[in-house]
Amino acid sequence: MKILFAAAEAYPLAKVGGLGDVAGSLPKALRELGHDVRIAMPRYGTIREATKELGSFPVSIGGADHDSKLRTLRLGEVPVYLVDFAPLFDRTKVYEYPDDGQRFAFFGKAVLDLLPAADWWPDVVHLNDWHSALAAAYLKTSYAAQERYRRIGCVLTIHNLQHQGLFGRDVFDWAGLPAETWDPEGVEFYGKMNFLKAGIVYADRVNTVSPTYAKEIQTEAFGFGLDGLLRSRAAKLSGILNGIDYDVWNPARDSNIPQKYSKSSLEKKGKNKAALQKEADLPALSKVPLIGIVSRVTEQKGFDILIPAIPEIMNLGVQVVLLGTGEAVYQEPLEAFAAAGKGFVAYLKYDEPLAHRIYAGSDFFLMPSKFEPCGLGQEISLRYGTIPIVRETGGLADTVVDVTTDSKEGNGFVFQEYKAGALVDVVRRAVEFFRTRRGWRSLQQQAMTRDLSWRASAKAYADLYKEARSG
Ligand code: ADP
Ligand code: GLC
Repeated sequence: MKILFAAAEAYPLAKVGGLGDVAGSLPKALRELGHDVRIAMPRYGTIREATKELGSFPVSIGGADHDSKLRTLRLGEVPVYLVDFAPLFDRTKVYEYPDDGQRFAFFGKAVLDLLPAADWWPDVVHLNDWHSALAAAYLKTSYAAQERYRRIGCVLTIHNLQHQGLFGRDVFDWAGLPAETWDPEGVEFYGKMNFLKAGIVYADRVNTVSPTYAKEIQTEAFGFGLDGLLRSRAAKLSGILNGIDYDVWNPARDSNIPQKYSKSSLEKKGKNKAALQKEADLPALSKVPLIGIVSRVTEQKGFDILIPAIPEIMNLGVQVVLLGTGEAVYQEPLEAFAAAGKGFVAYLKYDEPLAHRIYAGSDFFLMPSKFEPCGLGQEISLRYGTIPIVRETGGLADTVVDVTTDSKEGNGFVFQEYKAGALVDVVRRAVEFFRTRRGWRSLQQQAMTRDLSWRASAKAYADLYKEARSG
């Protein structure tokens, strides 16, 4: 099958979070199953890789015809089409500009408009999150009269329902969709233009990135106002657990870590811990439990309960190394804890190699998310034999099994209540388990046993594409 995979990020060209990881690895896994998958993404100013120019194509939007360049390169075996329209994309960041509505309406349309210039017609377009979701609305309305577009199936993957792409009516007017789509049954959402809703309404199939999150988003507590719509679309909604790229995340071959190791040489993992402690200026004591955190610093990731819990967690005699960037309201108290110098170290930046060193060098990986569509941090840490401590929600619930509920399948520590006290309790339980040493090595091995590669999930996507084609 021929699939055009559209996303705003794809590692290593651009990555803000897990979407970048998925776009960098799922297409590769689908190629290995024999599908002709190609990626479409904007060409940001930060993309310096050499490209081949395939000519230019018109994008008719905002009442004008804009000339966009089409460039291509390869990520391994996967061809990438880069939409090179400098006025909107030649910038240093992926998101968070005042004209994001225009930028990603343009991208959504360009995903379809680039096809004649590429001279390649997919069977399915696979859209990801709100940034490319508008392509579904164009495809099923303005473009539906054209035979070569009509035969294209459309899949939308929701990586995070919190971010919907909400803009004023001006963005709708600029996008130029048919007037009748400005309707509660279309792209309108309480007087606003809602990109993600457009995708949910018009795509042939909608999925999210774990089975549990697919259920959760149909409830008011997790639905961000779209739960009613999702319930009404339940028959075309499913959950497929994300995998991780086993070439990028492999402790036996990771050139970013000081000491490579595998399931059968776990004793070597300690060297990574000692190196991380040294790097973080912490006492290099193997018996002190080291907890790693690599995360966007936002409400989603549990900082509302983590920050008040930090003093009690530190009283358990642990070391914490945190890597992350995000909201100032959380970063400021984290900086204050770090300044106190009591074993809490915070790197408030984005740093890919350091993330690898933390996954490899920590004993535990903490992810107390409020909600989590899938979560890759806990999957990576399992692969590195670093024991996850997580809240039971979304993909965390689908990947981490508490060691005390199932001693055979158990691979981590899980808590339920979104409260600082419950978080302290689970960390205490984890630390006690670590200190007794009984069963620690087999717990690490159990963590590393779980298959988190893309193999099974890539097959599930291939099935979903088939369904999308048959309408
Ligand atoms: P989300 O996509 O919601 O941020 P995920 O757990 O799915 O969460 O994916 C996060 C990805 O981003 C992981 O690969 C993680 O290692 C990486 N990451 C997050 N913050 C940083 C950071 N500050 N530096 C390096 N990598 C980071
Ligand atoms: C989102 C979610 C995260 C998920 C990632 C990739 O950013 O927050 O849970 O793993 O997308 O699908």
